[in-house]
Amino acid sequence: MIVPTKVLFEHAYGKYALGAYNINNLEQAMGLFRGCIESQAPFIIQISKGARSYTDKRMLEAIIRAADEIFPEALFAVHLDHGDEQTAYDCIESGFYSSVMIDASHHPFEENVEITRRVVEAAHRRGISVEAELGMLGGVEEDVKVDEKNACLTDPDEAYEFVKRTGCDSLACAIGTSHGAYKFSGSQTIRFDRLAEIQKRLPGFPLVMHGSSSVPQEEVDRINAAGGCIKGSKGVDPNQYLPAAKLGVCKINIDTDGRLVWTRVHREYFRDHPAEFDLRGPGKIFMAEYAKFIVSRNQLLGSAGQL
Ligand code: G3H
Ligand code: 13P
Ligand code: NA
Ligand code: ZN
Repeated sequence: MIVPTKVLFEHAYGKYALGAYNINNLEQAMGLFRGCIESQAPFIIQISKGARSYTDKRMLEAIIRAADEIFPEALFAVHLDHGDEQTAYDCIESGFYSSVMIDASHHPFEENVEITRRVVEAAHRRGISVEAELGMLGGVEEDVKVDEKNACLTDPDEAYEFVKRTGCDSLACAIGTSHGAYKFSGSQTIRFDRLAEIQKRLPGFPLVMHGSSSVPQEEVDRINAAGGCIKGSKGVDPNQYLPAAKLGVCKINIDTDGRLVWTRVHREYFRDHPAEFDLRGPGKIFMAEYAKFIVSRNQLLGSAGQL
């Protein structure tokens, strides 16, 4: 059943985090639903702009509606990931989305406030909630000076002002993570100090962590052993999901890890079955492996058993 994102956040706040998983095709959808049913976890399906245009936005919506019918016990929200203003309006008007993200974080503060406020107004009229973003994810290098490094992180006072002025329902914070397979170098990790300061300024307010894939080394090793070349990658320690949840992070975004499962399964399959050309062979393995991965993440997020 598709439910408002707000309802999921209220249940999770301070106790566990919802896994927010991106999907692009039916195999990801099947693995995701199976994994969440098996682990008895509520969850969030995220659809990016790229996912909407991969085939046709109606295709993904139809896949999700079908999965909802196939798995009537599933409890989930449908969320636009990293929306721009126009895409956010399109999703709000479609009536299909539980929540939208407006990502105007690359604009100066005042502009970010203005754009976010407009989207919040439109969304709230339709009972849809809005995730906004403040601060800059990604590209943080260890050799960058401390001042510059901190400048990318979300400022707690600004976060407070931003939330009050925009009326957004949750806030994606830059706390040291970045998108993709190359997140940290050396001893870098999630900035729990910064997260704690943000929560102190916004007690009870749902925070969101982007760039949360763990990029498991054994997964990368298997991909590389099967012809891949993913070198020097590093992700978030998944044992830090629950400590982040205790500090108000209600939604933890995981996309890259699922792509790694897909890549490993397909590379190994075609390496081991060079004469094979039935796409359903690796497709079946992927769905089972992705479901297994989802179960393991939901356990670490604390969402397992919360249905
Ligand atoms: O943060 C981005 C998500 O991983 C979605 O990626 O825009 O390539 O679909 P995408
Ligand atoms: P990862 O690249 O770490 O999976 O992050 C995904 C994300 O933040 C989607 O919005
Ligand atoms: Na998002
Ligand atoms: Zn993101």
